[in-house]
Amino acid sequence: MPTISQIRADFPILDRQVRGHPLAYLDSTASSQKPTAVLRVMDDYYRQDNANVHRGVHTLSESATAAYENARLRIARFINAASPKEVIFTRNATEGLNLVAYSWGLANLHPGDEVLCTEMEHHSNIVPWQIVCEMTGATFRYVPITPQGELDESALAELLNERTRLFAFTAMSNVLGTINPVKPLVEKAHAVGALAVVDGAQSVPHLHTDVQALDADFLAFSGHKMLGPTGIGVLYGKREHLEAMPPFMGGGDMIREVKMSGSRWNDLPYKFEAGTPAIAEAIGLGAAVDYLSDLGMDWAIEHERSLTAYAWERLHEVEGLRVLGPGPEKRGGLLSFILGEIHPHDVAAILDLEGIAVRAGHHCAQPIHDHYDIPASTRASFYIYNTTEEIDRLVVALHKAKSVFDF
Ligand SMILES: Cc1ncc(COP(=O)(O)O)c(C=O)c1O
Repeated sequence: MPTISQIRADFPILDRQVRGHPLAYLDSTASSQKPTAVLRVMDDYYRQDNANVHRGVHTLSESATAAYENARLRIARFINAASPKEVIFTRNATEGLNLVAYSWGLANLHPGDEVLCTEMEHHSNIVPWQIVCEMTGATFRYVPITPQGELDESALAELLNERTRLFAFTAMSNVLGTINPVKPLVEKAHAVGALAVVDGAQSVPHLHTDVQALDADFLAFSGHKMLGPTGIGVLYGKREHLEAMPPFMGGGDMIREVKMSGSRWNDLPYKFEAGTPAIAEAIGLGAAVDYLSDLGMDWAIEHERSLTAYAWERLHEVEGLRVLGPGPEKRGGLLSFILGEIHPHDVAAILDLEGIAVRAGHHCAQPIHDHYDIPASTRASFYIYNTTEEIDRLVVALHKAKSVFDF
């Protein structure tokens, strides 16, 4: 196995100084850093193969198409999709969730139907469902969380019923870190005849994903949170659903034939990929998936588990600091916290003076902050390149923040 310093050497940005300190990047939940392997394939693509895909017979177009489709194939394997046709390239997880909401939702939801999500969702797994419920007359409902920051299973048992057409939930909360039991939740949705839509934005980068074993109907995730570039994400969907759904957007590539009297749609996955796609970005995401596969998700999981356990202990040494969500054994590699009365933006600004990058705000998850009756929190998050020394620096800087605010 590579050492942590070998892994860090793959990420050029980690050599950066910020405000006179070595960068401690503790914000991978928002967006991860990129290894040289990803930067290189994107650079190579633009230098060697740049051309549009699926349209040309010339050499460059053929090699661009091969690289783009090869990336899809490797991503399909990474999540164990039954076929690459079930892997739709989108801009990000948000677009994937909107695709299901608009395409499946507008065609299938009616007054009297219910769409269920949870209180711990990112806005991207709340707002599209609210919009589509508004448009169709369906009812939007959500599962509350327990005081421990887990899904309230007894409320879920009442809320899931024969009117529920779709249950959309996150596999891992980006605020609480809570890892949800995806497979049992999918089974519960299916037991009442509902579809299960999984927000994998936080789970796919950090945990094993096997869509066939999970039996999820849809799963959305973003490339930029898993070592890949921005502008590329994936919607996985079971073939039978994708085949039955109308297109989300119209334009080039998604059609088989266009007449002024009407048009016919292309096969999967192209039916859902209108217009020139993010070619370099898809190729970059393919390289990111290779990097994670070569490293091994078992290694990544264990590394993040030990960092999280360490951070949990160390942060609790800071008097007046309260971590949101469950204990380290039930969470992924992130800790959102509040530090007395100090505003999270002030905490993050003081940490930045020490070269430590954390997130402050509502993290696009206002309902969960409303649940705790707080407007915002500070979040430190970890990935394969983080170290316990960075967590030590975080703790020292938090003590500094306390003394600045005399708390
Ligand atoms: C749980 C979760 N879902 C969805 C998203 C949306 O991701 P993106 O902005 O890349 O579409 C995020 C981003 O932070 C997230 O953490």
